[in-house]
Amino acid sequence: MITVRVPLGDRSYDVLVGNGARSELAALLPSTARRVALVTQEGIPLEVEPGLPCERFVIGDGEQHKSLATIEALCRGFARMGLTRNDVIVGVGGGMVTDVAGFAAASWHRGIPVVHVSTTLVGMVDAAVGGKTGVNIVEGKNLVGAYWQPSGVICDLDALATLPPREVRCGRGEMAKYHFLTGDDLLAMGEAERVARCVQIKADVVAGDEREGGRRALLNYGHTLAHALEIETNHALAHGEAVGIGLVYAAHLAHHLGRISAERVQQHYEVVGGAYELDTALPDGLSPARLVALMARDKKVLGDQLTFVLDGTQGVEVVAGVTAEAALAALASMR
Ligand code: GLY
Repeated sequence: MITVRVPLGDRSYDVLVGNGARSELAALLPSTARRVALVTQEGIPLEVEPGLPCERFVIGDGEQHKSLATIEALCRGFARMGLTRNDVIVGVGGGMVTDVAGFAAASWHRGIPVVHVSTTLVGMVDAAVGGKTGVNIVEGKNLVGAYWQPSGVICDLDALATLPPREVRCGRGEMAKYHFLTGDDLLAMGEAERVARCVQIKADVVAGDEREGGRRALLNYGHTLAHALEIETNHALAHGEAVGIGLVYAAHLAHHLGRISAERVQQHYEVVGGAYELDTALPDGLSPARLVALMARDKKVLGDQLTFVLDGTQGVEVVAGVTAEAALAALASMR
């Protein structure tokens, strides 16, 4: 078992990574907790044993259930149960479950403890760690939410063996991003070590910039084009798949702006397409102008200029003032 500490003063917590890590759940619950409200979905592959009286709340599957209606239904259930600040919510599932359970925990009685048991690769290396919680509204994804750090996170690698291949691909998209945030050779690591290293990189970024005033935005490397691709393909391309293409695009854009060499662009292809076997080409039939317009909407824009997270000689950083012409040219240079 590997333990990664997320250092946030008196809100610091441990992330436990390893096969069978779920057996540590009871030890991770706050000592004040008397009961557990367990939030999960049907079909989640892990059974957990919190070691306290426990009531189970099953939420729907699919983005349409990541909603304020689901939060209301959960909170009404908590009211029936009489859940108090001396209890704990446990979210067991992928990123959707932990985002919803986290937001319910942030809201119920103005905040009660939550522990996440992440069962997907995306959840382990991203969603379950760092305290971003929230739900969608018709106008957009994750527009309503709160920063609410968990009291602990469990990444039980047993769950990964049960994931459908597409879900694994999505996790790899997020994982590929971490290759470029540090100089680490993640590919040389075993699975547990690699997941733990991704968690460690995220923990370090979150510890320095919990509320995304600056550095935390680097965790969105590859995400600007990815969000546009998700929208433009009507989510036929899943988030992690879109991030893979977005990473390659960000490399082309950085090269176009003279920030990185052609060899470094090639490294992006090798990691995303080679090591992680993700698509690196733009899907056919998309309008480049429309993708640029969507990217401009995704980030705050000054005049006709866009902001991206881009690689460079100083490492990955936020770069403002990218013109629409440069953004279009980089799309054209993708193979
Ligand atoms: N998913 C990016 C972040 O947690 O900041």
